[in-house]
Amino acid sequence: MNTASPGPQGQDAPDVTAILVAYDYRPDCLIEILHDVQAHLGYVPDSVVPQLARGLNLSRAEIHGVITFYHDFHRAPVGRHTVRICRAEACQARGCRSLEAHAAISLGVAFGETPADGDVTLEPTYCLGNCALGPAALVGDELIGMIDEARADALVAEARR
Ligand code: FES
Repeated sequence: MNTASPGPQGQDAPDVTAILVAYDYRPDCLIEILHDVQAHLGYVPDSVVPQLARGLNLSRAEIHGVITFYHDFHRAPVGRHTVRICRAEACQARGCRSLEAHAAISLGVAFGETPADGDVTLEPTYCLGNCALGPAALVGDELIGMIDEARADALVAEARR
């Protein structure tokens, strides 16, 4: 695993053959395969998409569509902790936009980015099933309802310890 092989346009791409073999090259296991790729590499790099497409007999667009549809998949390396702020309608009505702005300023990053210290990645998400208690966020694996700026700051500081 993780051995480089020539990828598209001459780039080196991680070799995910072992994962494809583990799932017997079954295209109906694409989501599980992507989870395994992310577990091994920390994210799902674009450079593995051609190998997955060939191995599963799917188009690159199909695989890309799944990766981008599910917000659990990261397309770039992430920090040790993630903060996911819900941007769906109910949370918008309850003030998630100001929370987003605050988080971006306090962390010094935009959605999808990780500060240079590699500690915390800020990500958008779309409904955490906690709409009545919005704005909602996931800090690591912890679902937080009615989160405000002060609570978000405290949780991030705690996660960084
Ligand atoms: S809209 Fe945010 S948790 Fe449902």
